[in-house]
Amino acid sequence: MSRVLVIGCGGVASVAIQKCCQASEVFQELCIASRTKAKCDSLAEKLSKKTKTRITTAQVDADDVQQVIHLINDYKPDLVMNIALPYQDLTIMDACLACKVNYMDTANYEPEDTDDPEWRAVYEKRCQEKGFSAYFDYSWQWNYREKFEKAGLTALLGCGFDPGVTQAYCAYALKHEFDTIDTIDILDCNGGDHGYPFATNFNPEVNLREVSAPGSYWENGHWVEIPPMSIRREYDFDSVGKKDMYLLHHEEIESLAENIPDVQRIRFFMTFGQSYLTHMKCLENVGMLSTTPVLFEGKEIVPIKFLKALLPDPATLGERTHGKTNIGCIFTGKKDGRKKIYSIYNVCDHQECYQEVGSQAISYTTGVPAMCGALMLLSGKWNMTGVHTVEEFDPDPFLEALCQYGLPYRENHSPEIVD
Ligand SMILES: NC(=O)c1ccc[n+]([C@@H]2O[C@H](COP(=O)([O-])OP(=O)(O)OC[C@H]3O[C@@H](n4cnc5c(N)ncnc54)[C@H](OP(=O)(O)O)[C@@H]3O)[C@@H](O)[C@H]2O)c1
Repeated sequence: MSRVLVIGCGGVASVAIQKCCQASEVFQELCIASRTKAKCDSLAEKLSKKTKTRITTAQVDADDVQQVIHLINDYKPDLVMNIALPYQDLTIMDACLACKVNYMDTANYEPEDTDDPEWRAVYEKRCQEKGFSAYFDYSWQWNYREKFEKAGLTALLGCGFDPGVTQAYCAYALKHEFDTIDTIDILDCNGGDHGYPFATNFNPEVNLREVSAPGSYWENGHWVEIPPMSIRREYDFDSVGKKDMYLLHHEEIESLAENIPDVQRIRFFMTFGQSYLTHMKCLENVGMLSTTPVLFEGKEIVPIKFLKALLPDPATLGERTHGKTNIGCIFTGKKDGRKKIYSIYNVCDHQECYQEVGSQAISYTTGVPAMCGALMLLSGKWNMTGVHTVEEFDPDPFLEALCQYGLPYRENHSPEIVD
């Protein structure tokens, strides 16, 4: 019997929770806890009629370690699934250590306040030493490695689609298709259309910070940083068609560079339409993406938070979004002394996701892997203690679970490669 505490009840969490409820033989008891309890109550009520999982709800401010500790001690879960925001990763990890419970999340730590001088000093040193300037990186959570190992606990980091499934695809390629991998290109294509001139598919604040940052990639043992959106390629995606994609910095590049032996280059590309890019540039130019508070009519407001309040809630995009996503990896390398290329990817249909769980495919492709990662930890199929990313575990049972719960993979042994 498993008891799981899910923290967060937004777009991604609501998919993960619905998927957990489809496997009630494993997820027998679930507590949904978030800042706004009403959202948890409404989801719990909707699900209680159609699942055997026993659902309770709670209010928690996960920025406050003591509140999380109190909640964990009260509920006594086997696993805490952090599906709130990356800002809460460290407080929730601290609480898990204090209460001796396993932890997982879907995105690596970044601070809410990037002007915090204590964080800024560490960040600036890291930018210089590592050579990329994104606000997020693994160092904060990798610092917990020894503590989790000593406590005999597991922290599974970044178990969404990208990061997450893309790393399992890398582990799968290394296990079954290659002796050595030379290059990895991760391609994230959203061919969906929601009909709005501008909206983000997941939390706007986190999303806009990610895509407005300089791009970077890993090559021959070091980072190469480039101005935002300055490398563009066109790619013909299976089931979607031709799309423009741009090179971004992305968190899994950092862990894959450590865990895929002798890899020479790792890049990440994401597709964007012209309307999205024009809106983003304009918002950036007028200061609306800033995280620094400004005084407005006697009240302090953070521009990007105000923008979030104006933009459509990603959780409401599902009904309007049509089209497909195609996310996966292309590899070059060697097998039995011969050069080869290979790709593995998933295609997901926005409307099919909406019919099943009431969400668009971005939340679906993140929530399903989160649930499958939890399944791996609870079933003991993944049982390494310490702090780990997805590619460090056996990909086979995870990919099997993804196929079963709605994200089957496709393979191509002669894919188009990206120049
Ligand atoms: N790996 C991937 O492929 C991938 C892809 C997309 C997203 N993600 C990650 O998935 C996570 C969730 O994204 P989302 O789009 O679902 O975001 P979202 O819709 O904004 O939901 C965030 C949830 O966290 C709650 N929350 C925020 N601060 C909190 C706090 N201090 N204490 C307790 N709860 C708090 C929010 O509560 P309120 O309702 O009160 O706001 C909301 O329920 C993010 O970390 C995002 O980066 C990962």
